[in-house]
Amino acid sequence: MAEERALAMVTCTAPVNIAVIKYWGKRDNDLILPINSSLSVTLHQDQLKTTTTAAASRDFTEDRLWLNGEEADVGHPRLQACLREVRRLARKRRGGSAEDSSPLNLSYKIHIATENNFPTAAGLASSAAGYACLGFLCRRGCWALEWAAGAQGGFGCSERGVTSWFLGPKVSGEKKQVGSTAGMQTSVDTSPLLKHRAEAVVPERLALMMRHIRERDFEGFGQLTMRDSNQFHATCLDTFPPIFYLNDLSRHIIALAHRFNAHHGRTKVAYTFDAGPNTVIFTLADTVAEFVEVVRRSFPPAANGDQFVRGLPVGSASLPEELVAAVVPEPVPGAVRYILHTQPGPGPQLLDDPSQHLLGADGLPHGRP
Ligand code: DP6
Repeated sequence: MAEERALAMVTCTAPVNIAVIKYWGKRDNDLILPINSSLSVTLHQDQLKTTTTAAASRDFTEDRLWLNGEEADVGHPRLQACLREVRRLARKRRGGSAEDSSPLNLSYKIHIATENNFPTAAGLASSAAGYACLGFLCRRGCWALEWAAGAQGGFGCSERGVTSWFLGPKVSGEKKQVGSTAGMQTSVDTSPLLKHRAEAVVPERLALMMRHIRERDFEGFGQLTMRDSNQFHATCLDTFPPIFYLNDLSRHIIALAHRFNAHHGRTKVAYTFDAGPNTVIFTLADTVAEFVEVVRRSFPPAANGDQFVRGLPVGSASLPEELVAAVVPEPVPGAVRYILHTQPGPGPQLLDDPSQHLLGADGLPHGRP
């Protein structure tokens, strides 16, 4: 019995979420309270997910963390706050109490391993996904995802066939130059637009976005999504010194989306960018094949390159000549590395199958001494 209680382990998976009304800036850094509310779409874990295993044992001599197999620093204050909560909850799950010495105990050290199946720190809300996993066990560091999960029930986007997908312009896992935590702090300190946005813009937009979603108004949803992404990046530019997350390719794709919508006379695709250059496009299922073909024609993939369209299958489409003439620019070969086609999906999941733990019975990542 004592042996059995020596190690407790739990594994969960969490999705990537993409904000359509963006959060940028904290009013309380310790509690991680945002200056304004935000609203996100949860993407499907079949294409993008983070898996995290947390283990606690009296045999561990220190807290340890492995990110994608590499050992990393456990000193980050947010991680430390999460670890405290993990300990508290692990103890509770085992029915122990603070005085109880045999079950999991508050002083036990914790090992955490987390793995993404997508590039980390490239503006794909990767840290949020990692913390959301820990968020299964704690309340800090994970509010953004909880927001998304809470919003999802009323969203119903898979029912109405909203398909969202990533354009992966040079999704290289390239780390962004200014991390979001530091970047947003500089924005809070220096940007008058951020203040105006939080006070006068976001509350109205949030209500309007909820209405578009309830009414299944894709055009309204798409237009507001694009406007909010643009205002977030304007806030970055209004920060002093300015922060640039978009690159030339991001701007090419923005222009392409607007030409595509103008040609059709309505909003058929909507782009959004988080703190990085990767584009997320929202579109309805009936437009996916056509827009993917437009992207393929605009940014012809290298002949022997990686698979250009990944994730969910995309049908083929032939483009009318007048669409090509109006929308497709001078092609820029190889600029977009790949497109990942995905859809909205469920929130964090607890995995029951012990074979899916990222840590072995010794509390170390598999295959490590
Ligand atoms: C641009 O969640 O990465 O994606 O709270 O400091 O970890 P921290 O920042 P992070 O910032 C996300 C900002 C955003 C917009 C959003 O997701 O709402």
